[in-house]
Amino acid sequence: MDVTEVILHQHAEQRRMFAMIEEWPRDDEAGLDALWKRLEILLEVHADAEERFFYPELVRLGTGGGDAPSAQEEVEDAIKDHNEIRDGIRAVRRCEAGSDKWYAAVLETNVANSDHMAEEERQDLTDFRHHASLTLRHDLAVQFLRYESQHWARGVKPVDKDPEEFVEEHEA
Ligand SMILES: [Fe+2]
Ligand SMILES: [Fe+2]
Repeated sequence: MDVTEVILHQHAEQRRMFAMIEEWPRDDEAGLDALWKRLEILLEVHADAEERFFYPELVRLGTGGGDAPSAQEEVEDAIKDHNEIRDGIRAVRRCEAGSDKWYAAVLETNVANSDHMAEEERQDLTDFRHHASLTLRHDLAVQFLRYESQHWARGVKPVDKDPEEFVEEHEA
């Protein structure tokens, strides 16, 4: 197992679920609501697991992957993005499933999440593959999946974080 593979694989699942919602019958409000609840848990548990297991190690080991100048910048960016995705999820929750406002909020969350995943894959995962040992990548995958499995059924409480404080806390 490899935590970078686990993250990449879950991104594909997130893209698949957004696509599913886009082509779902628009008059099936209950179905749309249920699909969204599933995706919401997927997004929140994934971001939470990344913040617990992946990003602290990237702060420690990374030097800046792809077009990122440093690991600090990568991680601050990622936490900022996660906060934005959590905002998007809150906005969807305030709308009635299947309404125009609901679709607009889902689209906004999709844009925020797509931009974030692209950057995370291009910079953060690359950086980690260059600097983390295979043993660490395996061990983190186990912790990541273990935590997600424990929280899959009910989801997690979404908690926004201060990007700079997050980096400082894990630099020590
Ligand atoms: Fe991710
Ligand atoms: Fe992320």
